Amino acid sequence: MTNELQNDLLIRACRRQNVERTPVWIMRQAGRYLPEYRAIREKNDFLTMCRTPELAAEITLQPVDIIGVDAAIIFSDILVVPEAMGMSLQFHEGRGPVFEHPLRTQADFDALQRVDIATELGYVLDALGLVRKALSGRVPLIGFAGAPWTLAAYMVEGQGSRNFVEIKKVMYCAPKMLTRLLDQLSNAVADYLIAQAAAGAQVLQVFDSWAGMLTPAHFHEFSLPYLKKIVEKVKPTGVPIIVFARDAGHSFQALADIGADVLSVSWEEDLATARMAVQGKVALQGNVDPCVLFSNPEIIRKEVVRCLQVFGGEPGHVFNLGHGILPQTPVANARAFVDAVKEESRRTRTLLEKQSN
Ligand code: CP3
Repeated sequence: MTNELQNDLLIRACRRQNVERTPVWIMRQAGRYLPEYRAIREKNDFLTMCRTPELAAEITLQPVDIIGVDAAIIFSDILVVPEAMGMSLQFHEGRGPVFEHPLRTQADFDALQRVDIATELGYVLDALGLVRKALSGRVPLIGFAGAPWTLAAYMVEGQGSRNFVEIKKVMYCAPKMLTRLLDQLSNAVADYLIAQAAAGAQVLQVFDSWAGMLTPAHFHEFSLPYLKKIVEKVKPTGVPIIVFARDAGHSFQALADIGADVLSVSWEEDLATARMAVQGKVALQGNVDPCVLFSNPEIIRKEVVRCLQVFGGEPGHVFNLGHGILPQTPVANARAFVDAVKEESRRTRTLLEKQSN
């Protein structure tokens, strides 16, 4: 595990150190837009792919080889944690992940088990080890988990939802039941992230994909404190932590103070506003509209230049989309995006150096 990183741009950018060019990776970069992913998916169901370290490792490496991103992110899913707590998870074609028995009664909540990471989620840790070996320091490896609020919402709704009525009913009518679950999830997620760091993850991202379903006041009550608790527990590992609280731009200032290294900005937010709000306390990641990748390389390059200009060459910038790459995205455009970031950010850097000499 001691192999030196040949490309540590992401790690340095997370720590707001100087970089020769801006690092780039893509949320959901290992997925259905890649024919190489679909070829494996045709022969296996999604959860088998997650649970088989050799397959998970192979899929994790695909975007590094095919589109040239500056980081690998372990192939898995945020829902493996509730599954490890005893909730039966299924993937339905076209409907996404579904919990067969969503949490609805006090008895459902009480039946959740404490997670023993090494036994229940050992397959993720094994996959991390395999990927680290296969990468042999080419790029850093990102581990991840879901945020307590997003996981709780999934566990109560049972599947994706438009209005999140079920979890909101619990929030309004039985807030103590919810906060107890959020506490349980915070402990499990923190332990899981610490185990991922020990198994080889060099950066960690927490996905609060449904943060935007909460009012600002409820975000402060039911999401932020739990994100903070996780960051505080994971911080001693020394591994940089990225927090993606999607559509929670109202709370950038507060999020900048929870101790995370990077905030990931969703495509719905304004990057310049985010930058002002966080006042250099954290690095920023994002926030390109995933749909730009349906245009053409020339337009993609313009969008890349626009984002770079917001940063004006200042450190603490990680290029990414503002949410996951969409399944229909042309692979050539994903590659054009990565290439444009590499070329244009190097050009910006060189220009700035010339100006300061
Ligand atoms: O980023 C990566 O490449 C790593 C892998 C990764 C997956 N899921 C693989 C996946 C990551 C980081 C996730 C996180 C995840 N999973 C989130 C948070 C990120 C986000 O996009 O907001 C959420 C909400 C989930 C839950 C989930 N898993 C949903 C809603 C779906 C169905 C929708 C979809 O995009 O397909 C999944 C399935 C899933 N997770 C797939 C992949 C590659 C597609 C499975 C397939 O092949 O059918």
